Amino acid sequence: MTTAYKKMNNCLSQIRKITNLNPEIAIVLGSGLGSFAKKVKKECIIPYADIEDFPVSTNKMHKGRFVLGYIEDFPVIVMDGRIHYYEGYTMEQVVMPIRLMSMMGAQKIVLTNAAGGINDTFYPGCLMAITDHITSFIPSPLIGENIKELGIRFPDMTNIYDQKLTEVMRKCAKNLDIDLKSGVYLQTTGPNYETPAEIRAYKTLGADAVGMSTACEAMAAVHCGMKVCGISCITNMAAGISDSPLDDKEVGEIASGSSGIFSQLIYNTILSI
Ligand code: HPA
Repeated sequence: MTTAYKKMNNCLSQIRKITNLNPEIAIVLGSGLGSFAKKVKKECIIPYADIEDFPVSTNKMHKGRFVLGYIEDFPVIVMDGRIHYYEGYTMEQVVMPIRLMSMMGAQKIVLTNAAGGINDTFYPGCLMAITDHITSFIPSPLIGENIKELGIRFPDMTNIYDQKLTEVMRKCAKNLDIDLKSGVYLQTTGPNYETPAEIRAYKTLGADAVGMSTACEAMAAVHCGMKVCGISCITNMAAGISDSPLDDKEVGEIASGSSGIFSQLIYNTILSI
């Protein structure tokens, strides 16, 4: 058994002392998108800091806690704040919570984030269903000894974002009259925003949006057999596409502005899956 897997089992047994809830769906909330957590009928809240061996979010826009409970009768676990690579954690630590939620029973996961728009048909505040991703600029979270209890050494990544789940989300968006875009998400390490030259390069590579999270989590989720649905809130046009300099305050404000409609979309999607 790898050390990482032993640590995850330690985290799992601590959580099991607090709750026996077996979530069916895990939801990871991105920057400024935390309001969805209010919709959960809460069974318990577990701050990451209370779990030994668990990485803690240092980003002030991320609360850093698990919210466990129900959306109507549907058992869910929400990561109200995620762990980022730019915080100095290893990729293995970054994806550990994803694996832990899978070990708790979640077979599906909805990953959300704030992202910069590269596709010129996007605008700040619009939402994008993630159809595929590019992780060539970050280390794979699967590097290191394979955790064979979770998945195979060389997992296929042809269909990371589950087409059926994405279709359900698309239908829910239509019913809510949301202009849901779709596209390819490219993950960088952060924490700096990109240069205009990088954004031009990423566009040539086929990216529609850029951000500092999510894709590594999606890879870890697929590795352990979860079905993944991904959604970005485009909070700004990426560097060089708009003239205005980028700052996290604006990212937070735009994400918060879209969080009502965003939360409703996630809520309806969970109930329709
Ligand atoms: N780049 C990277 N990450 C982001 C951006 C961006 O423009 N906007 C929100 N998260």
